[in-house]
Amino acid sequence: MDTRRIIDKAIEIPVVTSFSRFGFETRRRLAKWEPLDGYDLRGRVITLTGATSGLGRAAAEQLARCGATLVLVGRNPERNAETAAAITSATGNDGVSHWAADMGDLDQVRSLADHILGAHDRLDVLIHNAGALTASREVASDGTEATVASQVVGPFLLTNLLLDRLEASAPSRVLTMSSGGMYAAPLQVDGLQMNEDSYRGTDQYARAKRAQVILNEMWAHRVGERGIRFHSMHPGWASTPGVDAALPRFAAVMGPVLRTAMQGADTLVWLAADDGEPLGTNGGFWLDRRRRPIHRLPGTRRSDTPDRRARLWSLIATLASCQDPWTGSD
Ligand SMILES: NC(=O)c1ccc[n+]([C@@H]2O[C@H](COP(=O)([O-])OP(=O)(O)OC[C@H]3O[C@@H](n4cnc5c(N)ncnc54)[C@H](OP(=O)(O)O)[C@@H]3O)[C@@H](O)[C@H]2O)c1
Repeated sequence: MDTRRIIDKAIEIPVVTSFSRFGFETRRRLAKWEPLDGYDLRGRVITLTGATSGLGRAAAEQLARCGATLVLVGRNPERNAETAAAITSATGNDGVSHWAADMGDLDQVRSLADHILGAHDRLDVLIHNAGALTASREVASDGTEATVASQVVGPFLLTNLLLDRLEASAPSRVLTMSSGGMYAAPLQVDGLQMNEDSYRGTDQYARAKRAQVILNEMWAHRVGERGIRFHSMHPGWASTPGVDAALPRFAAVMGPVLRTAMQGADTLVWLAADDGEPLGTNGGFWLDRRRRPIHRLPGTRRSDTPDRRARLWSLIATLASCQDPWTGSD
């Protein structure tokens, strides 16, 4: 193992060094990362959800600076338009469009897919970044718990609807922004959606984020041969409006060591832009431009069985009311 890898592993074990800006800065310097401005993404079409704030906003601006053609997605049309205009003005890239969709509303997800398919003849990267941690239990219009609806079911449906276009644009990528919070959560299928009595926002969020990471591996395994690369990642801890709103005490106490939004978004942009490891590997879970284990605790590892994975996939395909793209056996 080379020295850089040893230092990287040493700072990964304590979560505070790994997830904070210290982890980002140390790894960036150690590995002499390629600056993101050096990537030329002209001619590549990228759809990015959760683009109006925080990590997604920072990623969108960097991708626009690299010349990508962008479809920005958020729930509010005016906010989307303001974001797209601000990014065009900051970067000079006039290939930045936007579309309003709530990722937890399956009809809106279908309209979004129709829009992308009609407006662009290729899709190089689909980024599932939209997400929130909600303190009280909410449900989507079809009755699915809202965190699961918007961060697991909606993205599953969108990937499914865009699969043929992604394949036609291969090598293409589907990227999912998960969270280090998922390390605490076992894989749950029957308990994926918490009920009113037991609901705790942080637990529900961690369960959904765990499901995202497992499904990412399953997508890679099940449709990877179609030339589409699937990767998930977590951003560490970054200062964003979402963190301020959901975890105000955490944001106040940890403020000085939190990453900037751009630092949190760095690996997402790199996974979208770099043609090395992100295309040469599939199904990875990343932090700071390096693959990381998806389990750190024996209990969560034990929960991750082939049977539970298969049941998770079929539950989400059922909730998404879509044709299951997988007809084989694991
Ligand atoms: N910041 C961190 O330290 C951190 C750590 C771990 C994971 N993450 C993950 O990173 C992602 C971005 O988080 P952030 O911190 O940047 O949060 P943020 O500042 O609150 O931004 C969230 C974005 O998601 C959009 N969004 C939320 N719910 C949506 C829905 N149902 N449909 C469509 N868009 C929706 C919001 O857009 P509109 O409100 O305009 O619709 C906004 O653009 C999330 O998946 C989050 O779980 C963040």
